[in-house]
Amino acid sequence: MTAPNTSEDRDKVVTKLPPQLRRELKIRAATVGVDIQDAVTQGIESWSSSLKPLGFIDTSGSESFSTYVPRSLLAAFRGDCSELKIPYNQGIAQSIRLWLDTHPLPRHERRATGARRIAMGNQKGGVGKTAMTAGVGQGLAEQGFRVCMVDFDPQGHLTKQLGHQHLPIKGDSLVKHMVGDRQGDLHDLIVEIGGEAFGGRLFLLPACTDGFLLDAKLVTSREVRIKETALEKALAELEKEFDFILVDCPPSLGYSMDNALYYVRTRDGEEQKSSGIVIPVQAEDSSADAYELLREQIDALCDDLDVDICDLGFIVNLYDARKGYVITSSLDAWKAIEDPEVIAIVHELKDQREAVRNKTPLLAYAPDSEQADVMRAIARRIAG
Ligand SMILES: Nc1ncnc2c1ncn2[C@@H]1O[C@H](COP(=O)(O)OP(=O)(O)O)[C@@H](O)[C@H]1O
Ligand SMILES: [Mg+2]
Repeated sequence: MTAPNTSEDRDKVVTKLPPQLRRELKIRAATVGVDIQDAVTQGIESWSSSLKPLGFIDTSGSESFSTYVPRSLLAAFRGDCSELKIPYNQGIAQSIRLWLDTHPLPRHERRATGARRIAMGNQKGGVGKTAMTAGVGQGLAEQGFRVCMVDFDPQGHLTKQLGHQHLPIKGDSLVKHMVGDRQGDLHDLIVEIGGEAFGGRLFLLPACTDGFLLDAKLVTSREVRIKETALEKALAELEKEFDFILVDCPPSLGYSMDNALYYVRTRDGEEQKSSGIVIPVQAEDSSADAYELLREQIDALCDDLDVDICDLGFIVNLYDARKGYVITSSLDAWKAIEDPEVIAIVHELKDQREAVRNKTPLLAYAPDSEQADVMRAIARRIAG
């Protein structure tokens, strides 16, 4: 929420709102690019000019909410509420509902170049690839995109923390599709990730432990001629149904990673920065060493296959400035790279770990947490 333009022309509205409504307002306003105070102002204007009575909103369990609206509008609104014998809180809640109903989530056009593809990659473990894949996927789904998160790490952390199991080793899997051993349709392996705010738009392609054998199978497979293209070919059938495909990469620099990198290259005719790699890192020296190796691999792949892979940015994760100079100076070093730029700094926060422990998506488990808001902001930044 931004401050009022001048203290003269806007008055503070102090009210109570159901948490769900407040959250919906926050997410929708950010998604459609409207300031919260302007959204509430527009809602009150529509409410005041509405001819028919609006539905009653259950305000039990409400929590405090404040914003600023033009003084004269607020005075007239208060008058209307008392004339109609509608409690002020109820009037504000109805106004916000009205604004939400008249500002639906944008419909996203599918692109001719396919789904937008994002790899969360870094061969260093524990830097937050999985946490960021999950958080960004949830943020994008909240913002109206259809998202498929691909658990491309055979350890299956993403799968497990979203409450699912590894696919059975003898059954069908992404890896089997990649190496020419498919047993069925990839669609049948996808599971929906529930959560009211995700609106049936968030899906997961779970991991299977056969992924540990992927690099070896790619080398020996006669079906796969160009080793780096197997992921793209396997996922092609899913693409038309999604706006975004997010790949949670394994902590390695083998063929699996090459496949993920090739998959997120900028395709012919695709706008720059539509797809690419996001690199979660930590503010510490070993992370910088790991990045050098990853950088070499990306550059080598671009040269070898004559492709362009867009660096969408670093996410400096698990940041805690209290840990001293090594941490703060490492952050400065990440920022100094400039290309790619640091797109977010994520603090070490308890909600992430608790959501994982509870096998619940973070944005459903702690929707009002700082961490959830950071994930939404990263999702908006990636969506562009
Ligand atoms: N910002 C954060 N705050 C607190 N815990 C975090 C944060 N980011 C990640 N974690 C936790 O750190 C651990 C490693 O993160 P994870 O996403 O699994 O890393 P990676 O996929 O790179 O191995 C997990 O337990 C995860 O829940
Ligand atoms: Mg992981």
